[in-house]
Amino acid sequence: MTVNKRIVSGMRPTGPLHLGHYFGVLDSWVELAKDHECFFFVADWHALTTEYAEPQKVKGFVPSLVTDWVAAGLDPAKVVMFQQSQVKEHAELHLLLSMITPVGWLERNPTYKDVRDQLDGTKDLSTYGFLGYPVLMASDILIYKPTRVPVGHDQLPHLELTREIARRANHLWGEIFPEPEAKLTKASKLPGLDGRKMSKSYGNAIALGEDLAGVRKRITPMLTCVKRARLKDPGEPNECNLYPYHLLFTDPQKCEEIAVSCREASIGCGECKKIMADNLCAFLEPFQQRRAELDKNPDLAWDILRDGNERARVAARATIEELREKLNFNF
Ligand code: TRP
Repeated sequence: MTVNKRIVSGMRPTGPLHLGHYFGVLDSWVELAKDHECFFFVADWHALTTEYAEPQKVKGFVPSLVTDWVAAGLDPAKVVMFQQSQVKEHAELHLLLSMITPVGWLERNPTYKDVRDQLDGTKDLSTYGFLGYPVLMASDILIYKPTRVPVGHDQLPHLELTREIARRANHLWGEIFPEPEAKLTKASKLPGLDGRKMSKSYGNAIALGEDLAGVRKRITPMLTCVKRARLKDPGEPNECNLYPYHLLFTDPQKCEEIAVSCREASIGCGECKKIMADNLCAFLEPFQQRRAELDKNPDLAWDILRDGNERARVAARATIEELREKLNFNF
């Protein structure tokens, strides 16, 4: 393996991972790990920007996230997996970068207003920490000087801010941070069961750890194609909410057969769902077995994190030392 590029990315531990995370983010992490040096972390401080009133909720999701990563195929011997709050250098860089980040940049950040307004009434997000979310994210990234950052579309404004903060730091304090490039992860290939974006809060997601009998029950009423009100109405797989699931879980030849049968109305949606449910369960089952195997050792995730935290700290400390040097704050 020739490693010439370093990447950094994080996930917030706010809930169990679902298929939308798997096909979109996690699969691209596994792919990138083949030829990049990777730092993947659990962004627990970021989770606290919205979950500050119930911090105990965050802890439970920390090890389960790491176990999901390993079950999905990330190798802790190759990839550095760590926990943000245990590499305190991120907080020091966050403080220093906050000195040079104009408040206006943060107030203009579209995700800031969107999320604050979305959660209005349930959570008070008019906090200093939530406004500074992108500064903390910039610190997470810049501290490792990566070349690329795999993120979803929703995170692009944050990455642009990271680049602006890097430019400002370089200008004020001397060249230190290379500007990282966004590596856009494909939009999740899977819609939710009801056709909207798959999301835990919409109740339309299938969790990776979901009980298989329950998965089958939830597939039965799922939305398919509006063209097929009756069995004899021909359908159109490209306009069907179920077909993207087939494309991921059913072999290509069978997908082709199903598409033909759907267009000539010789297969019903019920049967089509049943085939898909079988294949989806055949995908989830080995994943869940790997997870169950990993869960037999309750220390595993914490051991992986302990080792990863140490490796991340070495890299993070080097950047902090360099910056303190530039600022003449190396007392
Ligand atoms: N904000 C990201 C999200 O919600 C999580 C995150 C925090 C992150 N720090 C990061 C992603 C640094 C990439 C790099 O998905």
